[in-house]
Amino acid sequence: MSDNQDLRALVRTIPDFPKPGIQFRDITTLLLDPWGLAQTVERLTALAPEGIDLVAGIEARGFIFGAAVAARLGVGLVLIRKDGKLPGATVAVDYALEYGSDRIAMHEDAVIPGQRVLLVDDLLATGGTALAAARLIRLAGGEVAAAAFVIDLPDLGGGEALAADGVPARSLMAFD
Ligand code: PRP
Ligand code: HPA
Repeated sequence: MSDNQDLRALVRTIPDFPKPGIQFRDITTLLLDPWGLAQTVERLTALAPEGIDLVAGIEARGFIFGAAVAARLGVGLVLIRKDGKLPGATVAVDYALEYGSDRIAMHEDAVIPGQRVLLVDDLLATGGTALAAARLIRLAGGEVAAAAFVIDLPDLGGGEALAADGVPARSLMAFD
C-alpha cells in the first residue's frame, strides 16, 4: 500500500494543539493499536540502510520506535535526551524547535568512532531536532547513515534540511 495508508488512518489529528492553528498529528492512537504498532516498527526497520551499527532514539517519542527498531536490527540504542537528564559526561547542542528552542545531549562515550548510526524519531517537522542529533553523533565520531521517521511534515522542510546536511531522511507517511 503506497504511503502506508493503513497506518496513516491510525494517526489522530488534534486541531489547535499545542496552540491555535497547529494540526497536531497524534501517534498515541497508532501506538494503542496492536497491529498498527507492530507494523510501524516492521516498516520503519525496513527503511534502514545496510550496515547500521547503532540506532539513536530522540526523546521522548523517538525512544519508543528507536528501541524497537534497534532490537529488530540486532544493534544497540543510544538515547539522545533533553539536556540535564543523562548521568554521565555528555556532549550537548542547542537547537530550534517548531514551537521554541531546546538543548539535547548524549553520553560522549556512547558512540564508537566510525560507527554508522541510524537516527529514529516519530516525526520530522523543521528538522531542527534531527540536525542537532546528527551534530551530537558526529561530535562523538559517528557517521549518520540515515534518519527514519514515522511521520514527515514536508511543508516544514525538514527532509531538505537533512539532505543538505548529508543525511538521507526516510518516512512512512506524510501529512500537509
Ligand atoms: C517533536 C517530535 C520531534 C520534533 C520534530 O518532539 O517528536 O522530536 O518535535 O520537530 P522538528 O523537526 O521541528 O525539530 P518534541 O520536542 O515535541 O518532544 P517530545 O517527543 O518529548 O514530545
Ligand atoms: N505532531 C506531533 N509532534 C509534533 C508535531 C505534530 O504535528 N509537530 C511538531 N512536533
